[in-house]
Amino acid sequence: MKAYKRYLITSALPYANGPIHIGHLAGVYVPSDIYTRYLRMKGIDVVSICGSDEHGVPITIKARQEGVTPQAIVDKYHAIIKKSFEEFGIAFDIYARTSSPVHHQTSSEFFRKLYDDGKFIERTTEQYFDPEVGQFLADRYITGTCPRCSNENAYGDQCEKCGTSLNATDLINPKSTLSGVKPILKPTKHWFLPLEQYQGFLEKWILEGHKEWKVNVYGQCKSWLDSGLQPRAVSRDLDWGVPVPVEGAEGKVLYVWFDAPIGYISATKELTPEWEKYWKSDDTRMIHFIGKDNIVFHCIIFPSMLKAEGSYILPDNVPANEFLNLEGDKISTSKNWAVWLHEYLQEFPGKQDVLRYTLAANMPETKDNDFTWRDFQARNNNELVAILGNFANRALVLTHKYFRGQVPEVGILTQYDRETLEELPKLKEAIEKNLEGFRFRDALREAMNIARLGNKYLADTEPWKLIKTEPQRVETILNISLQILANVAILANPFLPFTTQKLMAMLNLEALRWEDGGKSYILPVGHQVNQPELLFEKIEDEAIEKQLAKLAATKEQNKNSKIKTTPQKDTITYEDFSKMDIRIGTILSAEIVPKTQKLLKLEVDTGIDRRTVVSGIAECFKPEELVGKQAAFLVNLEPRKIRGVESNGMILMAQDEGGKLRLVMPNEKVNNGSEVK
Ligand code: MF3
Ligand code: ZN
Repeated sequence: MKAYKRYLITSALPYANGPIHIGHLAGVYVPSDIYTRYLRMKGIDVVSICGSDEHGVPITIKARQEGVTPQAIVDKYHAIIKKSFEEFGIAFDIYARTSSPVHHQTSSEFFRKLYDDGKFIERTTEQYFDPEVGQFLADRYITGTCPRCSNENAYGDQCEKCGTSLNATDLINPKSTLSGVKPILKPTKHWFLPLEQYQGFLEKWILEGHKEWKVNVYGQCKSWLDSGLQPRAVSRDLDWGVPVPVEGAEGKVLYVWFDAPIGYISATKELTPEWEKYWKSDDTRMIHFIGKDNIVFHCIIFPSMLKAEGSYILPDNVPANEFLNLEGDKISTSKNWAVWLHEYLQEFPGKQDVLRYTLAANMPETKDNDFTWRDFQARNNNELVAILGNFANRALVLTHKYFRGQVPEVGILTQYDRETLEELPKLKEAIEKNLEGFRFRDALREAMNIARLGNKYLADTEPWKLIKTEPQRVETILNISLQILANVAILANPFLPFTTQKLMAMLNLEALRWEDGGKSYILPVGHQVNQPELLFEKIEDEAIEKQLAKLAATKEQNKNSKIKTTPQKDTITYEDFSKMDIRIGTILSAEIVPKTQKLLKLEVDTGIDRRTVVSGIAECFKPEELVGKQAAFLVNLEPRKIRGVESNGMILMAQDEGGKLRLVMPNEKVNNGSEVK
């Protein structure tokens, strides 16, 4: 690696439309914090940057739902998020916000520079417009029927039922969520960053130059690049955000993913007048900590923006994590399926490190991972209490009991003493290696191994049995134990800052310098240590059951709120109905359409003929479950090619609110071709 003089650490700016949960923490903020603390302990010049991402459509939607201004929403959540990060010990140098004047100015100037340098292309496209409200509609403001699965509540950018990503114009019967009316198409001008022009640069920079990036990150970049980059709109028709600083752009703002990453720059500006040293010198190493859903923005789009601007450095690494689940289910803000940081801090006061430890130990580094309350309890009781807490307590209690709290002399070392002490520099090195490779779980395990080493050393040497007969041997044993404990205080600090702070006080140690780690003479002979206090306490079943009950209540609530029937549609005439030719047919065979996950190709005996019907039902049925079953088919629906397979008709399904599908079948077997009327 290049010789870098300083570090610029960024952590994804969380949206200020909800509080922070454990998924955010495990994916982004705990790793970035561990890394930053480690660099600081090494005496490296580092700034750690974060702030609230306060623009974007979801914030305007939330504001509308709650009947307040977007500013009120971001003020509320910015305050909650900032406070909870502080209490949790996430050591940003600044926690800024993108609604600040500095940010507006910085992102505006950034856009203007690219504009003046001719880096954008302008395009006029047709976009949905709500004639009643007089506003262009962001994709999320349009709902309609999914062309793929017929879900009537699909959004303009995605159907949440079948997962297909959509364009608003794909929706059948589009509806504005603002007024309920049908939107009209209207031309509007936008600015696009022609990403295809950066394809060559990105391929060289990432695919050739950064083979060391995590496999998940490199792989995602490669697949984006392999499928060819397209121009990306960087402006939106919206009244919340940074106004497009160009004549004739009234009512348009910068796309949130254009302005947000510039937030890293504006936050650094707010932090220090020397901000350019961090952003514009080649000997700064910039690292972006993010979750996997942010990879394309941080590896493809933002770097292209920086390259287009020309005066900034690029990230040297982007160690993105996968997602953390909660008790087996995807964390969801809207379903309230989360452990919220501000609630945790209230319900488990003083236990920041227990959560930090559990999240670091389960960090979703290479694949999605699960947080469970039972695991949280076990990590606390079996690891933090039983290993770390127990070792610290024994070493200090014995020192007070036998030597009035003074670090005793070291006598002649046994082979075993030497082997034990030799482990310390090795453990330190292992922690470093893992941290530098962004393998935080392994790094944490090695840090815990120091406490394990200490515990084992005490258990093997049994000083309490020797104190009467060999007091000098006990002096050596406790000196060594205390040196090991000092190593824990230093080398576990990035992971468990609150605990190691207490340990430092107990050991009567002042500065924590990384370079002291690994050594066996950190505490001088005669040094006075303080009385031990409790580092961790057992977490009882009761506390865990309370959390589980809370989650169960959330589940129940979600279930109940889901059972609502869709309202009746407009009336039709018998004529309208009789146009549909619905028949009972038998499914002869069923197979998944190759390269798809949701589509089934059915061969059907309709009584009229044998034909192929393609349907997006593979998630609800295994092919073999369907073979031989009778079902209702709309047989005179015009043929349609779906993924290269011609579908002649549609299988009818009963769908409940949960999205689950069932066949509509006669209550007794009937002849194929029987009409449903
Ligand atoms: N707010 C985005 C999210 O939560 C992250 C923005 S990161 C930034 O997914 F780089 F754009 F700031
Ligand atoms: Zn769908």
